[in-house]
Amino acid sequence: EKVSVSLIKADVGGIPGHSTVHPKLKEKASECLAEAKEKGLLVDYRVLHVGDDLQLLMSHRKGIDSEEIHKLAWETFEAATKIAKELKLHGAGQDLLSDAFSGNIKGMGPGIAEMEFTERGSETLVAFMMDKTEPGSFNFPIYKIFADPFNTAGLIIDPLLIDGFIFEVWNIKERKRIFLKCPEDLYLLLSLIGAKSKYVIKRVFPKDSSPLPKDEPAVVVSTEKLFFIAEKYVGKDDPVALVRAQSGLPALGEVLEPFSVPYLVSGWMRGSHNGPLMPVSFKDAQCTRFDGPPRVIAAGFQISHGNFIGPIDLFDDPAFDLSRKKALELADYLRVQGPFEPHRLPPEEMEYTTLPGVLKKLETRFEELE
Ligand code: 13P
Ligand code: 13P
Ligand code: MG
Ligand code: MG
Ligand code: MG
Repeated sequence: EKVSVSLIKADVGGIPGHSTVHPKLKEKASECLAEAKEKGLLVDYRVLHVGDDLQLLMSHRKGIDSEEIHKLAWETFEAATKIAKELKLHGAGQDLLSDAFSGNIKGMGPGIAEMEFTERGSETLVAFMMDKTEPGSFNFPIYKIFADPFNTAGLIIDPLLIDGFIFEVWNIKERKRIFLKCPEDLYLLLSLIGAKSKYVIKRVFPKDSSPLPKDEPAVVVSTEKLFFIAEKYVGKDDPVALVRAQSGLPALGEVLEPFSVPYLVSGWMRGSHNGPLMPVSFKDAQCTRFDGPPRVIAAGFQISHGNFIGPIDLFDDPAFDLSRKKALELADYLRVQGPFEPHRLPPEEMEYTTLPGVLKKLETRFEELE
């Protein structure tokens, strides 16, 4: 029994500023998806949010890149935008960069993570959603979960995991991809994905030795870059990922373990700063301090005949308190440096922000040196 899960998200307006999503937008989105479930297009759905990003989690039988599913998501975001405009929410329709839907939502602004797979006897799924950061922010945890035995005990003690996994990595600037096998290609993988603004893990697959179907991913990450579509700064490409767990894949606790450290990501205020990624509960999924710090939520499910059993709010747990506390200490420490790098992003990354407009104003004031 194959099931498809699509997690499609967009910022269609924040309240106040870029901090969170108004409940009316979530209500509208739920209405649209309920109707689609009624009609039989969706098996099930959940509407969630992190920061100012509205998240549509949908299960269906249509496979990935389904025109019907993408159209449903697009029209749902349009309906929510209409309310955002009435309420004059900040940046109403921010991530909808096109006027008309034409078959696929890719390249139109929303972020997309979708996968089709054979539902196992027990199908554990975690949907991760981040705000105030970018797709490369998933490189570190996905590497840890699927390639680092110091994170994932199963990589050395589970016969189903000992052979490792295959990583599909995209060069998002030149639009190329490469498949790397771990552990064989471990160092090559790290040489690429440490440069997280350019190389992004897109999917992870089981190896030939795995009893799981080889063409069905265990992970998929949204890799959309708004700047490349809009050609100007329209906010950050706040990413999402779907990660399957257990029974031939890392255990749930191995999937969550990397977030015990608030590692540094780029984004935060005006998409222009490095800051700690703070794992938070759904209740704390709003961005306040300096429009952050960047946050991640984790919604845990068991899937039963395509239905979402859950969500469980996985970071709503004192086990992640220390990570949050460290994130706040790091936030204090970095904020002191104000506009100075490495708190502010390096020049290559600032090209995708609003800074070039300021530099342009200075052009005529520069004098040539001898
Ligand atoms: P339980 O005995 O609680 O099911 O734990 C099994 C396990 O392997 C946890 O990692
Ligand atoms: P969003 O991408 O979450 O809208 O963030 C934009 C921003 O500039 C926050 O300071
Ligand atoms: Mg916003
Ligand atoms: Mg956002
Ligand atoms: Mg954004």
